[in-house]
Amino acid sequence: MVVLSPSPPLSSALVLACQETSDNLQALLGTLPLEKPRHSARVFRSSELSRYHKKIIWEIFESNMRDLYTQSSVFDWDPLSKKEELFNEDSRFIVILDGSTLIAYTMFRFDREESWDVVYCYELQVAEAAQSRGIGNYLVTELCRIAHSSKMSRVMLTVLTANERATNFYLAQGFLPETSEEESENADDEDESDESDDNMCMDYQILHKPCLTPPPLLPTP
Ligand SMILES: CC(C)(COP(=O)(O)OP(=O)(O)OC[C@H]1O[C@@H](n2cnc3c(N)ncnc32)[C@H](O)[C@@H]1OP(=O)(O)O)[C@@H](O)C(=O)NCCC(=O)NCCS
Repeated sequence: MVVLSPSPPLSSALVLACQETSDNLQALLGTLPLEKPRHSARVFRSSELSRYHKKIIWEIFESNMRDLYTQSSVFDWDPLSKKEELFNEDSRFIVILDGSTLIAYTMFRFDREESWDVVYCYELQVAEAAQSRGIGNYLVTELCRIAHSSKMSRVMLTVLTANERATNFYLAQGFLPETSEEESENADDEDESDESDDNMCMDYQILHKPCLTPPPLLPTP
């Protein structure tokens, strides 16, 4: 018989966040800082996305990320497992629509990382033609707003080191690398320090942005 050590109980904030409806999360969103009124931001659970929107979500991901994954020594280009991760039942999406055309999205989940209740941003993808118009900034801001409102303490994400533009973008957005601060908290735990050593040798970085205060609303154009 296998005896599993008991998992720590989930915090009530995390339980509530996981139950939150897409409509309630959408009601939190600030106004999109885009000039054309046909643009809109919508929140969906994976199960609420249309087949067409799932197709576009995959196409934007493939177009933006395929080369980076292929060149990575850690991540494989494995469409099947990536689609399973993207459209897992726990996945939530904020999508940006231009009319009915999906042009950008973030996929996130409410989760527990070490001792933190977090919004984990698995993907932030803006279609090439829509980049550098403030959409990435908007999506990060709204993830922080959702995190703050749901009593999650931070937004976390993983970025490939080779993805210099995205890394610089996240640092400019106020994300911080997992630092000695976190390492020293776990100093007695050998496995943890091994993990952070590994992290430094890998071709990716884990970043976080504290969300203890609500982000300001972005100015409308
Ligand atoms: C990284 C990424 C998410 C950033 O999103 P974005 O919408 O292009 O970012 P923003 O427009 O908010 O900000 C990016 C730049 O535009 C500038 N900008 C912001 N608002 C602007 C506006 N209204 N008009 C012109 N430029 C603007 C910003 O100053 C910023 O400057 P930079 O080019 O020096 O970084 C996006 O480029 C992307 O999807 N890249 C490919 C996929 C990827 O790497 N995702 C991350 C995986 S971890």
